[in-house]
Amino acid sequence: MSWNPPKDFNEMHLFTDEALLLWETGEKFVWTVEEKETGTFIGRVEAKRARELPGNVWGLGYWIHPLQQGKGYATEASKEVIRFIFEDLGADSIVSSHLDWNEASGKVLRKISMKHTGFSENRVVKNGKPMRAAEFWLDRKDWKLC
Ligand SMILES: CC(C)(COP(=O)(O)OP(=O)(O)OC[C@H]1O[C@@H](n2cnc3c(N)ncnc32)[C@H](O)[C@@H]1OP(=O)(O)O)[C@@H](O)C(=O)NCCC(=O)NCCS
Repeated sequence: MSWNPPKDFNEMHLFTDEALLLWETGEKFVWTVEEKETGTFIGRVEAKRARELPGNVWGLGYWIHPLQQGKGYATEASKEVIRFIFEDLGADSIVSSHLDWNEASGKVLRKISMKHTGFSENRVVKNGKPMRAAEFWLDRKDWKLC
């Protein structure tokens, strides 16, 4: 990920407070993913307006708890975020990316029908350092429910 995990509960609360505020302003929507029967925490997914790009474009992000990875949850949850972005937000396109080495994330993006458009060298920055990232894109017209 381009961000570092929260160090303590205080930082965690800062994240959730900001997420609630941005939900109110309509700039970003963060969901917690839970196991249906038990309510066990699985991870988080988000849709964030990509203000740096022209048109009505939204970014897709996801994070799954290490104990819950490899069970298809990121794919399942991301499909629903895509539906929300196109149907509820009326977006034209969705953008996403992963750090070059993050093969699992690339698999998720391909499984949800996003198209690999190339690589960026400077767009993603981690700890002040530019990172090579694989870029993905999906237009509403190419959106396939799968
Ligand atoms: C990337 C991530 C969200 C995937 O979540 P997940 O719920 O495990 O994803 P899914 O189970 O839906 O699919 C993962 C796919 O990657 C594969 N995979 C898992 N770990 C892998 C690895 N280390 N190398 C290559 N492929 C891997 C799985 O086999 C699966 O592919 P398959 O369906 O063809 O078998 C999760 O690993 C994660 O949260 N990582 C840390 C945070 C992160 O990288 N977020 C994304 C930032 S761009």
